[in-house]
Amino acid sequence: MKKLLLVFGTRPEAIKMAPVVMELKSRPECFDVKVCVTAQHRQMLDQVLEFFEITPDYDLNLMKPNQTLYDITCNVIMGMKDVLEQFKPDYAFVHGDTTTSTATAIAAFYAGVKICHVEAGLRTYDKYAPFPEEMNRQLTGRLADIHFSPTKKSFQNLVNENTPKENIYITGNTVIDALIYSAGKVNTITDNDEINMLKSICIEDDIILITGHRRENFGDGFLRICEALKEIALKFPKARIVYPVHLNPNVQKPVYSILNGIDNISLINPLGYPAFVWLMQKSKIIITDSGGVQEEAPSLGKPVLVMREVTERPEAVDAGTVILVGTDKDKIVSETISLMTDSVKYKKMSDCINPYGDGLASKRIVNTIMKLQ
Ligand code: UD1
Ligand code: UDP
Repeated sequence: MKKLLLVFGTRPEAIKMAPVVMELKSRPECFDVKVCVTAQHRQMLDQVLEFFEITPDYDLNLMKPNQTLYDITCNVIMGMKDVLEQFKPDYAFVHGDTTTSTATAIAAFYAGVKICHVEAGLRTYDKYAPFPEEMNRQLTGRLADIHFSPTKKSFQNLVNENTPKENIYITGNTVIDALIYSAGKVNTITDNDEINMLKSICIEDDIILITGHRRENFGDGFLRICEALKEIALKFPKARIVYPVHLNPNVQKPVYSILNGIDNISLINPLGYPAFVWLMQKSKIIITDSGGVQEEAPSLGKPVLVMREVTERPEAVDAGTVILVGTDKDKIVSETISLMTDSVKYKKMSDCINPYGDGLASKRIVNTIMKLQ
């Protein structure tokens, strides 16, 4: 039996690794699977673990308020050393571009454990955007033995970097597996407190959903974003802006100080995954700097304004459902006005497209692992 260790630490990694955990656990005769969470996030991770009913075998419990990249990197490497020595897996699975992923890949490399990288090969080739995720992803890619790329573009990026083709598999993105699983459940849930709360605040026809947390947007970027949202709220008094605010103090502080108390802006806590999926479905427009939301929204037919200068997920931009607006206040406001008032443009951007997956990515990943030596 192959011994597999799946490691993740933040909300998006947990959402995207949950379908892989579920798929592996459905084949207990083939694998000895253990889950390790670093808890780089705590509350926002626990929300996901609860929804997908995942009980970690190891929990490094390392989150500290306002932690630095140095804290996370050092604590993950040291914490993973013990876990790797204890479990001695054949393969360690890491996901995407977080510091949990890269530090775990370093620890696995030191321990002589093979590394599988899920969501591999996304690139901007701009060292500082997203920061530090672009370099995290490149470094993890160099250390990984097996690469699961979500799209042809991400496969090609790895090929261009001389990664052996036979070690790269195009699987689709597991976020779509998670989304399909959750969207199915959301429609049958009747007693979810968060969804009930959302129903009570989302009484307007037009809901504009906001999320934001990128490190490169901290400071002036976030101030411009908040000023833009304030202007949009005033321009469209009959619309409601709903903003589940990331728990990072660098986000909470500007958002609450600038946007609190505006009638048609609801600042709320981060939502559990099913409630967030419900809210995406209910929204007219999504304005975000999130990676995962950029992938989910197009398959729900929601136009997205992405508050980044560059994106490692160009597929939906190419397809026309995503527009990059950076943190330029005027651009955020003008693109929102245009979507709110120009029904032809809105319709064009809200065509459902699915460049990121078909819901079978985790099956493909697990089928591949079955065949590995
Ligand atoms: C991290 C990832 C980022 C990912 C994002 C998803 C890195 C370097 N960053 O950024 O790639 O897009 O997660 O959200 O890996 N906090 C809480 N409770 C939580 C989570 C966070 O209080 O459940 C607060 C803490 O004060 C913590 C801070 O937020 O110190 C920052 O968390 P951290 O994981 O360092 O950064 P993120 O911006 O969340
Ligand atoms: N999400 C959530 N609750 C929220 C906001 C987002 O469950 O209040 C989900 C969202 O559906 C997506 C993921 O969290 O799957 C994105 O996480 P985040 O934006 O924090 O990180 P990124 O994807 O940018 O790394």
